[in-house]
Amino acid sequence: MSARPVEIAPSILSADFLRLGAQVSDALEAGVRRIHVDVMDGHFVPNLSMGPLVVAALRPLAERAGAVLEVHLMIAEPDRFLDAFSQAGATAMTVRVEACPHLHRTVHAIRRLAAQPGVALNPATPLAALEEILPDVDVVLVMSVDPGFGGQTFIAGTIDKVARLRAELVRRGLDHVEIEVDGGVGAENVRALADAGMTIAVAGTSVFDPRAPVAANVRVLRAACGVRATA
Ligand code: DX5
Ligand code: ZN
Repeated sequence: MSARPVEIAPSILSADFLRLGAQVSDALEAGVRRIHVDVMDGHFVPNLSMGPLVVAALRPLAERAGAVLEVHLMIAEPDRFLDAFSQAGATAMTVRVEACPHLHRTVHAIRRLAAQPGVALNPATPLAALEEILPDVDVVLVMSVDPGFGGQTFIAGTIDKVARLRAELVRRGLDHVEIEVDGGVGAENVRALADAGMTIAVAGTSVFDPRAPVAANVRVLRAACGVRATA
């Protein structure tokens, strides 16, 4: 038996933007090693958020801590922006299966930029859409809400979807691929997700909930999810 601890990846979408640097520093001091930046274009999703300028601003903090700076590209035609995000300091880039007609080309473009390639699925997109691309990616991001906004309610069927994906990865000798779950993740569901095979939990509202310090919120999530055991 081996165990992989679940990594907490705070989504800064829910941070206090007036104090963004301090909030991210708090998360890094709490031991976080992956910062999740949600990029929205008002086309692929019905909202606008942030771009390479924010990534560039966070870069020194992430580099000092040795943390991954991950962009979740909820945008049409992500290929047009990969260079810009790479130059800004993104070290992991996740694109949407639904937005990429040439997904293989896009994933390999990300790898050539020396970033971890990830692919993301909407709740209604079946796992079958990943069949050909799985051997080429480092991360599969399973959306547990329809993308576009923080603070939405977790879709319970995600747990079974994660379990089916982990089983498929094991069956194909690809168990090293990370499964990241994004949307409505909190202390009440991380354990079930971890048991199903999630290895990265994206958490916005539950990490930046202003009722407690960021470090305390991270500790609560860590304690709630425990570790994933694999054969
Ligand atoms: C939603 C984003 C998520 C979101 C998570 O489109 O991809 O990363 O900000 O936020 P919570 O944890 O609040 O659902
Ligand atoms: Zn996200």
